[in-house]
Amino acid sequence: MVKINLKLLKKQAQEEIKESGDLKFLNEVFKRYLGKGGELTFVLRSLEKLPKARRVKVGKEANEIKNDLIIQFDKKTREIEQKVQKEAEEKEWLDITAPGKRPLVGHLNPLTLARRDVEDIFQSMGFSVIEGPQMESEWYNFDALNIPKDHPARDAWDTFYLKNGLLLRTHTSPVQVRFMEKHNPPLRIIVPGPVFRHEATDPSHEFELFQVEGLMVDKDISAANFKATVREFFSRFFRKEVDFRLRPDYFPFTEPSFDISISCVVCGGKGCSTCKKTGFVEVAGAGMVHPNVFKAAGLNPKNWQGWAFGFGLERLTMMKYKINDIRLFRSGDLRFLQQF
Ligand code: DAH
Repeated sequence: MVKINLKLLKKQAQEEIKESGDLKFLNEVFKRYLGKGGELTFVLRSLEKLPKARRVKVGKEANEIKNDLIIQFDKKTREIEQKVQKEAEEKEWLDITAPGKRPLVGHLNPLTLARRDVEDIFQSMGFSVIEGPQMESEWYNFDALNIPKDHPARDAWDTFYLKNGLLLRTHTSPVQVRFMEKHNPPLRIIVPGPVFRHEATDPSHEFELFQVEGLMVDKDISAANFKATVREFFSRFFRKEVDFRLRPDYFPFTEPSFDISISCVVCGGKGCSTCKKTGFVEVAGAGMVHPNVFKAAGLNPKNWQGWAFGFGLERLTMMKYKINDIRLFRSGDLRFLQQF
């Protein structure tokens, strides 16, 4: 039998147990000494080959070492387990006095906020909110609105024509005709929605805009009703009285026609780049519905009167929140959106 120095074996095993940093390593040490083919196991198995006197002596010593090592393995195992648990607890530890992290909250585009506001205000005045198609026919976008083919007034709207014979509506006015075809007066509607212009962009021009059309038709309607409605709308939208003015203008679908301008809120009417130094910003076109528009919709202009308007929602929103570049609305810039 190979002579094995039991004292040395014990010392080595003890040292390796001591150095074990994790259970996997410790397990390997255990196998090396006390496993099936382990060194101490080997000694114990070979005892029977020894002469009796030696067998008793070596056997006693080897068994003592075995018991001692087992105790040490147990102790080390517990130590490692405690260490692992403590580390895990430290990792999970929650400082309940630390300030919380704010979750990132999305913001509505100011145009959406303004649109909702406009809808609420007009609904409270008895108007219904109507939508119409964004792909429109030439008939509804132009002809039915008293803008015949080859009429120079068509040039006022730079139009995206589509390959399918339709066009992207240049304004929400076509919905006036669509609605009057199907509904008998008296009626009050607003039509919010996107419109498209084949235009170069700059701080006050976009190729996609958001308009809010308005239409009121009844027996005795006058421009005075119109003015009162608009005044009420402005004071509720801006949450204060705003100075506004109506000036004569020209639109083929209204007679008389006017434009609506409000006192520039960016400079308080003093004159700035947003109002082009005039102190006023044009926010809508409007007028009394032209008899030809009633006719195109199948109504007798002798029986009905009405007024209509078309607000540019961007302009209104720019005035409300003092925004000086129309392109910001669709820029997707979070620094802009987070302000609302
Ligand atoms: N549709 C016109 C535009 O886009 C705005 C407008 C003017 C609408 C007069 C109206 C109106 O309803 O009566 O420029």
